[in-house]
Amino acid sequence: MRKWTLRWKLPEFACKLWLVLLVSRVCVCDGDQAAVTDCFKHERHTRNYDYMEGGDVRIRRLYSRTQWFLMIDEFGNINGTQDPNNCYSVLEIRTVSEGGVLAIKGLKSQYYISMNRTGMLQGKKDYNDSCNFKEVFLENYYTAYSSVKWTKNGKEMFISLSQKGRPLRGKKTRKESISSHFIPRKCREDEKKLA
Ligand SMILES: *[C@@H]1O[C@H](CO)[C@@H](O)[C@H](O)[C@H]1NC(C)=O
Ligand SMILES: *[C@@H]1O[C@H](CO)[C@@H](O)[C@H](O)[C@H]1NC(C)=O
Ligand SMILES: *[C@@H]1O[C@H](CO)[C@@H](O)[C@H](O)[C@H]1NC(C)=O
Repeated sequence: MRKWTLRWKLPEFACKLWLVLLVSRVCVCDGDQAAVTDCFKHERHTRNYDYMEGGDVRIRRLYSRTQWFLMIDEFGNINGTQDPNNCYSVLEIRTVSEGGVLAIKGLKSQYYISMNRTGMLQGKKDYNDSCNFKEVFLENYYTAYSSVKWTKNGKEMFISLSQKGRPLRGKKTRKESISSHFIPRKCREDEKKLA
């Protein structure tokens, strides 16, 4: 019985080893993987502006109905990218209070998305109430994010990405507009450790 197990296991091990070698070779040549690896090469001095403790935290990309990933670059600029592996589009979405109030932070850049009085999106290193967005679930599986702090003539202003992947000024946004519709997408385990 023992002998049989051994004999069986050895080829299996060899096969696994071969598989591992094969997979690692594939990864080296794979452009996507290379892009992610680059993400980890950057310096890490922007760590830890974590003023908020606790709360439900999700690591997601927000993919817009206009087919862009929302990203916050290293300077705090908010924009869309079509690169599905761009590390600046990995977002930490934290529940701040009940009723679906969230703060959204770029995991790599450590900038929060904030909306100012004029409805412009900006990255902010320091969290305050202008960084709060209300998560609005729409009937079509999409989610919209409206500023909790600011409205324009009583109307909500939303995070949005135009067809060209640029944020729209808040007063031009509407809940019904496809540029305000996002689908949160899960990230890979390795991407969750970007910060
Ligand atoms: C946003 O992205 C567009 C297209 O990729 C680029 O031309 C523009 O410079 C970016 N803007 C900022 C503020 O990063
Ligand atoms: C709002 O943000 C935009 C973009 O960063 C900036 O140009 C503008 O001066 C800000 N306006 C106010 C009132 O803070
Ligand atoms: C939030 O912080 C910004 C500076 O980062 C400041 O201009 C603003 O007044 C603060 N409060 C609100 C509600 O925006």
